[in-house]
Amino acid sequence: MKKGIAFLLSAVLCVAGLTACSSQTTSAGNTESSSSTESTSAGTSEAKTDGGAVSTLEEGKLIAGTNAAFPPFEYLGDNGAPDGFDVALIKAIGDKLGLEVEVQDMEFNSLVASVGNKIDVAIAGMTVTEERLQEVDFSDAYYEAVQYVIVPSGSEIASADDLTGKTIGVQLGTTGDFIATDLEDAGDATVQRYDKAVDAVNDLINGRVDLVIIDKNPALVFEGNFEGKVTALDGAQFDFEIENYAIALPKGSALVSQVNQALAELKEDGTFDKLVSQYIEEAE
Ligand code: ARG
Repeated sequence: MKKGIAFLLSAVLCVAGLTACSSQTTSAGNTESSSSTESTSAGTSEAKTDGGAVSTLEEGKLIAGTNAAFPPFEYLGDNGAPDGFDVALIKAIGDKLGLEVEVQDMEFNSLVASVGNKIDVAIAGMTVTEERLQEVDFSDAYYEAVQYVIVPSGSEIASADDLTGKTIGVQLGTTGDFIATDLEDAGDATVQRYDKAVDAVNDLINGRVDLVIIDKNPALVFEGNFEGKVTALDGAQFDFEIENYAIALPKGSALVSQVNQALAELKEDGTFDKLVSQYIEEAE
């Protein structure tokens, strides 16, 4: 797609007389490599792979930030290293791009600001939002999600009206936090913000919060982990909107189209579906 745009652009400029028409004869391959070079920002290195030039913070490496406390998308495995669907997906993307992937576990709330300086990409079940788009670009969406409500089993909370006057637990800086904050701003709720979602669920069990708002799949995992104690309710009951997960990338980076290309290939060759059944469906 990038090739197409670059070619089209040079053709348009040529017609407009703004650039030498000879550049139109440049092959699509050359057009792409020169546009990748142009977008290399100071301090980054370039690794040559058969997919073209891939520019990352450290040559030959893709540093991916995540917050490994969000099962089944990311969690710490038995060996203490980040694992989960997103971790497997970014490693598969790295393979396609010829890059070694290093996954860094960090606070969810600092991921967006770290993209392009501490990390090359953030992959963390991160929902595409208008606010985040001010700071980063997103890959094509790879998973559809919705916020769920976790309540103590037997709770009478069942619809949006029931949230009034309640204390809501959320993970700081998440879309669940944004929904709860809107309720708080309207004077309808109190919000307790946690660095880790599981701490909010523990406080739900202790009775310190009345409900937790969190994405569907982690909600279902927590429901299973705290069996009999908590119940996960579909966000549709509360009129929560559909969200889309995507990988956050530096604004304007050539990595955006490279990651999208790799993602498309993984969908086409069946790897993506395999990871969905291995990590997500099995956890349900
Ligand atoms: N989808 C939500 C958001 O983007 C929550 C993501 C939390 N992810 C995590 N790894 N803790 O805000």
